[in-house]
Amino acid sequence: MNIIKAHNLACPIDGNQLEFHEKQLTCENGHAFDIARQGYVNLLPVQHKRSKQPGDSKEMVLARTQFLNSGLYEPIANKLADIVFAQIKDEKETCLMDAGCGEGYYFDFVFNALKDKEGSSDLSFIGLDISKPAIVESAKRNKQITWIVGTNRQPPVEPASVDIILCVFGFQSFEGFNKILKPGGKIILIEPGPDHLKELREIIYSKVKKTEPPDLSSAQEMGFSIVDVQPLQFKTGIINNEKINNLLLMTPHLYRATKAGKEAAGDLRELDLTVDIVFRVLEKK
Ligand SMILES: C[S@@+](CC[C@H](N)C(=O)[O-])C[C@H]1O[C@@H](n2cnc3c(N)ncnc32)[C@H](O)[C@@H]1O
Repeated sequence: MNIIKAHNLACPIDGNQLEFHEKQLTCENGHAFDIARQGYVNLLPVQHKRSKQPGDSKEMVLARTQFLNSGLYEPIANKLADIVFAQIKDEKETCLMDAGCGEGYYFDFVFNALKDKEGSSDLSFIGLDISKPAIVESAKRNKQITWIVGTNRQPPVEPASVDIILCVFGFQSFEGFNKILKPGGKIILIEPGPDHLKELREIIYSKVKKTEPPDLSSAQEMGFSIVDVQPLQFKTGIINNEKINNLLLMTPHLYRATKAGKEAAGDLRELDLTVDIVFRVLEKK
């Protein structure tokens, strides 16, 4: 398939279309946003920030990069690429956005899987995350994806201009997604299933609950319907102490586990983990 540059970015201040120049993006009202030397653009104005350095820290981002680069989660990326491909219609253009893309592993994987497929649609890719350190890492992975620091609550993208949104273990804002999706557009959600990382959770928590992926009634009330649900389960095989620590750092367990629980996990020499994932595809009316 043919890759094109995204041309539907919107000014985060007034919503006007943004135009790419050599070193900046500008809107007709004169708002200007520099293209960083690494190639990304910061479209998160202070008034959209809820903290000084929102999103994942540099330490979490580097732990995730190391863990994902080991290939342990490649079966997730593979299945995601297949599900995305199945959603691409033979339309003139298809805009894909990864909302909460982190350090870009999954979106880069999907990009590489799709670019070699047969198909007549021109594809554009927008990777968005609220964490600047995450977008800096993403920009190193792939120079053909448009990487943006921004928020899923108010994505700096023109209304009804995106075909497929990926949200991989990410922060979901159905209101934000609804605004930018075309009618008939899709959201692909990847979330932990009931047994995800159960061996690790048994060590860091005194009681382990089997939690189902979150209820989607708020999205359904907005007019989204669930059109596909696919589980994926596999074992990682034995992983070492460094990978266990990276995994702890990159997941919400870092905040939720007790100090004793984290220390017990941090001391483990090895662990064989269950990965239990649920893919859900939502369609906008
Ligand atoms: C658990 S990580 C998942 C990252 C990536 N999708 C992955 O699976 O490797 C969640 C990501 O959501 C980002 N995030 C949190 N709040 C956000 C928001 N309001 N808008 C966009 N991204 C957000 C964080 O910075 C972090 O990179």
